Amino acid sequence: NQELQRYRPNLHFAAKKNWLNDPNGLVYFKGEYHLFFQYNPHDSVWGSMHWGHAVSKDLITWEELDIALYPDEHGTIFSGSAVVDWNNTTGFFPNEPGLVAIFTHHKDGNGETPPKQSQSLAYSSDNGRTWFKYEGNPVLSHKTKVDFRDPKVFWNMKTSKWIMSLATGQTITFYSSPNLIDWQFESEFGENVGSHDGVWECPDLFKLKVEGTGEEKWVLLVSIGDNGISETGSCTQYFIGDFDGSVFRAEHDDIRWLDHGRDNYAGVSFSDIPEEDGRRIYLGWMSNWRYANEVPTEGWRNQMTIPRMLQIRKIEGKYIVIQYPVAELDTYFERSGDIHGLEINNSETKVFEVNEPYLELFMNILNSDADQFGITLNHTQTQSTTIEYDASNDVITLNREKSGKVEFSEMFSLEKRLKMDNSKNVQLRVIVDTFSIEVFVNDGAYAITSLVYPDQTCETVAIYSQNGKITVENGCIATPNKTLT
Ligand code: FRU
Repeated sequence: NQELQRYRPNLHFAAKKNWLNDPNGLVYFKGEYHLFFQYNPHDSVWGSMHWGHAVSKDLITWEELDIALYPDEHGTIFSGSAVVDWNNTTGFFPNEPGLVAIFTHHKDGNGETPPKQSQSLAYSSDNGRTWFKYEGNPVLSHKTKVDFRDPKVFWNMKTSKWIMSLATGQTITFYSSPNLIDWQFESEFGENVGSHDGVWECPDLFKLKVEGTGEEKWVLLVSIGDNGISETGSCTQYFIGDFDGSVFRAEHDDIRWLDHGRDNYAGVSFSDIPEEDGRRIYLGWMSNWRYANEVPTEGWRNQMTIPRMLQIRKIEGKYIVIQYPVAELDTYFERSGDIHGLEINNSETKVFEVNEPYLELFMNILNSDADQFGITLNHTQTQSTTIEYDASNDVITLNREKSGKVEFSEMFSLEKRLKMDNSKNVQLRVIVDTFSIEVFVNDGAYAITSLVYPDQTCETVAIYSQNGKITVENGCIATPNKTLT
């Protein structure tokens, strides 16, 4: 069916049919990356949550498998995580290590009773193909808290305990357990720090390396739900700090955003990536609750971001979380037509033909004296998206006002401004797939993730400058690797 195929991505995971939201249970086990996801098998709008399932060997090409978790007497299946129980702490795996999913059971309320959210377990001994719910479910509930969800669990080596980060209203609560079954309260974080624009969701706590040093710091990701008022809708903040096995302390009190686009939400990282690999890889849901149910696809909705590697970078004395597409992506592209020493003078535009289903741009833009410069992706003759740097204010914006279908949400066309740390030159890496643009600025220091719904991916790329001259170095428009089928 042609409509089902429309906008279908080449490099991103989308379910074949129906609705998808948050990534869940990201785990690496026996050569496979597992991606579970919030899934409604009955419709292409949110509802009746299950865990869908896909696997990949390289994080880019995914095979969608059968649904992993179905609703039961405790409710529907909301977000959560998965781990490998290497030491059989649960007792579920007498023979060989297997996978445990820790997820939220959600029961709708009725006029008299509020909704109920509690944490439950399921386990699999056949590489995630079949799952058994634990008979003692739920393993963690709360007497009064209504928002009590999205458990993300890891094994804390230092204390030899499982740690669960849980979204509990507008805070994150940490619990510990020896066996994933019995949980003990440790601490609650966030009452007086960070953005409280909406309900806190989908936390993730992990250690990250500071680029180029042996230093490590703890990072806590927290997604913030759409409050229906703010200009941004849903978005994800992060905190850098320290976790002592019980309490997390942030070392800053400013608000930090993981992504400066509108369409990267509920991102969490993979568990059990082998130590010799050592990467912290995460991916997000590429949408926004403000319009996720309305985006113009037929029979299916929404996709995930490209998996990205996270690190910490120290920029002018400040530690920030940076991100970059995983290296596995590189084999999907052929680099040719390098651009070197390309001078673009005042009010000039240089245009490159592309006409590919997906592409990747790299360029270092050296600014002599321009006020503004940028790149226009001309999807068609009349539809385009612009990434512009305003050098006088250090602000970068992605403008998708004319990118194709935009009228399904008023907020879709609003520009979002990203104020960067003072930088004269700008390095850009841009991944353009059928209906998405992912921009990485200054070697991953900032990410801008954005949906677009043009009639075709990209006809031409135009680089322009205003009120001064720029020079493009190390530029390249990478196109699909034709040796891959
Ligand atoms: C985040 C979220 C989670 C919840 C899930 C329900 O997008 O609201 O908090 O578990 O989606 O689908």
